[in-house]
Amino acid sequence: MEQYIIKGGRSLAGEVVINGAKNAALGVIAAAIMTDEPVIIENLPDVLDINVLLDAIGEIGAVVERIDRHTVRIIGTINSVEVDNESMRKMRGSYYLIGALLGKCGSAQVPLPGGCNIGSRPIEQHTKGFRALGADVDISFGMVNAKADKLTGNHIYFDLVSVGATINVMLASVLAEGQTILENCAKEPHVVDVANFLNSMGANIKGAGTDVIRIRGVEKLHGSTYSIIPDQIEAGTFMLAAAATRGDVLIKNVIPKHLEAITAKLLEIGCEVAEDDDSVRVIANRRLGQTQLKTLVYPGFPTDMQPQMTATLAFSEGTSIVTESIFENRFKYVDELTRMGASIKVEGNTAIINGVEKLTGATVCSPDLRAGAALVIAGLAAEGFTIVEQVEYIERGYEHFEVKLKELGAMIERVEDTDAKAIQKFKLKAG
Ligand code: EPZ
Repeated sequence: MEQYIIKGGRSLAGEVVINGAKNAALGVIAAAIMTDEPVIIENLPDVLDINVLLDAIGEIGAVVERIDRHTVRIIGTINSVEVDNESMRKMRGSYYLIGALLGKCGSAQVPLPGGCNIGSRPIEQHTKGFRALGADVDISFGMVNAKADKLTGNHIYFDLVSVGATINVMLASVLAEGQTILENCAKEPHVVDVANFLNSMGANIKGAGTDVIRIRGVEKLHGSTYSIIPDQIEAGTFMLAAAATRGDVLIKNVIPKHLEAITAKLLEIGCEVAEDDDSVRVIANRRLGQTQLKTLVYPGFPTDMQPQMTATLAFSEGTSIVTESIFENRFKYVDELTRMGASIKVEGNTAIINGVEKLTGATVCSPDLRAGAALVIAGLAAEGFTIVEQVEYIERGYEHFEVKLKELGAMIERVEDTDAKAIQKFKLKAG
């Protein structure tokens, strides 16, 4: 198994370029198969989850051609609505193929989505939406089966705000007959990005980015060339890495507006943040302070940044309180931070963090994608050597994470856990 070995204590400095947003790209790839005409997607992140989804659409008949590392050409000539790719069971974004296939072909059989183990992740809002459009949906033998003779627009009120349900039902309704009104929608930037992409293919979607999305069904979609928005969570992760290591990092290819909740918290705990048109620079030159925060749907503080922020607060001055309101199981990494000397007590969905003077290196295991990134941040700031195991979680969503960190001056190496020689070599070099 691959792991990261880190020698902490170096301030990050320099520039880093952010890739396209993974969670937007998952929706865009699913949308791309809704036309038989060629679609070119640019600024696609080269990460595991995206490559698994590309393989899966290839297996059901789409022609997928990599033009370069971040550009793909897709022709959505689907010949099967049954997605039976084993890897799809482990990822969340697979559920977008239900909406896309149901919308285009009137039928979909897709494995019940997996994804990071951060809490129970039901999909009843997705299925409620599909049913309201006229589909029969059942879940059996681990598969979601959706079928409709015809989809008809409807007025759908989501019982809770869900990114996945908003995008999925939007996908299913763009080719439905008549008007669909979705209320209580998620407003995340990736919802807007998928809607913009669908509109570039000829869909008629209005209101994405607000609570109410109105979709007028069209006869068919056509080809398009589209560039994915920058990944706000990758950007936020590098902002926190800069802050935690008392660094000075210019984070390029971002939309500063999407980062406002993170920027506000960094300012509050004592960082300098300078925004430009498409970059943010984070400077921290002293021990950071405490704060209180609660994760919320956009534009609130994102749940996907909660672990990275908690890891940073673990060695900031004072007592911080972090409340997780989206996923109930997103504090599993706290035990790992404790191994590094953190003093954090979790009560229900709240973590009470007593900032310690410093963290010390340890062997820790990443329980999920963002928690893994948080442990890397902790390792970069800690004294001594840290080993972060199960980096495959991190690689689901971060492209060349350790390479980018190295370019900012971090001492980090990706090594095979059995490769004692490589580990020894790193330790000797790091001193
Ligand atoms: C998306 O997950 C992201 N994943 C997650 O990113 C992100 O954490 C999450 O949105 C919140 O921003 C993808 O885009 C692939 P939700 P999703 O539906 O769509 C409950 C990462 O690290 N809910 O907005 O699954 C649900 O349990 C990942 O990149 C229902 O109860 O999230 C949760 O408590 C992890 N019923 C809340 O809503 C439903 O039918 C929000 O979930 C749907 C959701």
